[in-house]
Amino acid sequence: GALWDAYSNKVAARMDNPKYLGTLSQEDADAKGAKLIIADYGAESCGDAVRLYWLIDPKTDRIIDAKFKSFGCGTAIASSDMMVELCLGKTVDEAIKITNIDVEKALRDDPETPAVPGQKMHCSVMAYDVIKKAASLYKGVDMASFEDEIIVC
Ligand code: FES
Ligand code: FES
Repeated sequence: GALWDAYSNKVAARMDNPKYLGTLSQEDADAKGAKLIIADYGAESCGDAVRLYWLIDPKTDRIIDAKFKSFGCGTAIASSDMMVELCLGKTVDEAIKITNIDVEKALRDDPETPAVPGQKMHCSVMAYDVIKKAASLYKGVDMASFEDEIIVC
């Protein structure tokens, strides 16, 4: 049917087999001399929630490992998985600049065709809001300080 065909192969593949699903522990952080950040974010409108784990090298502010857990729909899982991939190797300040549009575009099979049906575009917003939550925890600032970059769905 039409909706079945409205998802990209990349979204379908990551729903079935997320690459970055998992957790990171304080032991993982200690082994790498990194700081562990665990950030939760939820979408009030649909009840879905995501938890993002970052290991950050405190000398460079670079995200050296990342995982996620999700109580989310398939699109939220695929979006969170791509979001984690886009965060990896970036500094926290670079990661803050990742938008839900970046996540959705990275999930497209072909640059002109949306990766998910329009009704599911909001699912990528949660995946990117949780980056701001994680960055606020690392920097010890309120999430509202990144207000310009937060889209509430
Ligand atoms: Fe809730 Fe997709 S329907 S995140
Ligand atoms: Fe699902 Fe907004 S309603 S992320």
